[in-house]
Amino acid sequence: MFLVTGATGGIGRKVVRLLCTQKARVRAFVRLTSRYDELEHRGAELFIGDLREQRDIEKACRGVEYIISSHGSGGDALALDYRANIELIDHAKDNGVKYFVFISVLGADRGYEDAPVFKAKREVERYLQSSGLEYTILRPSGLASNLLPLAESFRKTGLYLLIGDRTNRTSIVSTDDLAKMAVDSVNIPAASNQIFSVGGAEILTREDIPRIFGLIFNREVVIINPPLFLVDGFRSALGLINPQAERALGTFRTLLANEFFCTKEEIAKLEAIFNFRLESLESFLRRHLSI
Ligand SMILES: NC(=O)c1ccc[n+]([C@@H]2O[C@H](COP(=O)([O-])OP(=O)(O)OC[C@H]3O[C@@H](n4cnc5c(N)ncnc54)[C@H](OP(=O)(O)O)[C@@H]3O)[C@@H](O)[C@H]2O)c1
Repeated sequence: MFLVTGATGGIGRKVVRLLCTQKARVRAFVRLTSRYDELEHRGAELFIGDLREQRDIEKACRGVEYIISSHGSGGDALALDYRANIELIDHAKDNGVKYFVFISVLGADRGYEDAPVFKAKREVERYLQSSGLEYTILRPSGLASNLLPLAESFRKTGLYLLIGDRTNRTSIVSTDDLAKMAVDSVNIPAASNQIFSVGGAEILTREDIPRIFGLIFNREVVIINPPLFLVDGFRSALGLINPQAERALGTFRTLLANEFFCTKEEIAKLEAIFNFRLESLESFLRRHLSI
């Protein structure tokens, strides 16, 4: 039995679909407010709970052999990126779980002090590494599925908002490829107790993304490109009324201010270990937008 957290999210939904296709037994951790009908129809067992509740985590882990942690935090890194994962690891140990796959983030090890999500991910990585559980840690760059709403809005307007340096490099990973790696990890000896940087087939600059949108929709591209200091100004003003929201925005700022890409060597290593060719952003978008 696999337990998948974040089962209704960008990665988690694809992980559950893949496991159901493989006829594996899956328990999908969902919230009552989540859109989970499809997962049940595909044959997943639903566990309705909240990852903020230790009791829910404890119950969800009973009878499980594999855990794929792929939930997000919606701004509360301490409760969800950190505490929920620490509890999942503790209960995995108590229940004799065979394998733990953790979706971290590219750059988790760079010591970004102002980015709560990155700090939480790194601490969870360390905790998992010293837990005695067999594990794979996947550190993805940006997910292609996040770009789908932006592509849809570009289709209507031709506009693309790009804050900060347009030439920063990025690797956008196909969410399907990441889900496949998460599922395959448990059966690939070379993935055992390893950390992988996970990107897409090519290294892009941030301005390549609207260029690809323009190509797909055959539309002229208008990039709106405000400088990063506008975000800083907004954050400082927000901090006066809501310090917690200001801190949460630190992760967003970190993502805008830095480069997140995988080297060619890292991509070659992934393709060799997981034994498939990574998908380009253009191909992912064409498949999902039916173009
Ligand atoms: N998106 C990226 O570009 C990116 C890049 C690198 C790493 N990652 C990491 O990849 C993971 C998944 O990202 P994603 O974009 O697939 O996430 P997502 O689409 O935002 O989905 C988040 C999932 O977590 C669930 N969730 C949130 N709070 C919960 C709670 N209190 N209890 C139970 N479930 C809860 C959500 O449930 P609901 O459906 O009920 O909201 C949803 O299923 C995250 O750990 C993220 O840090 C993402």
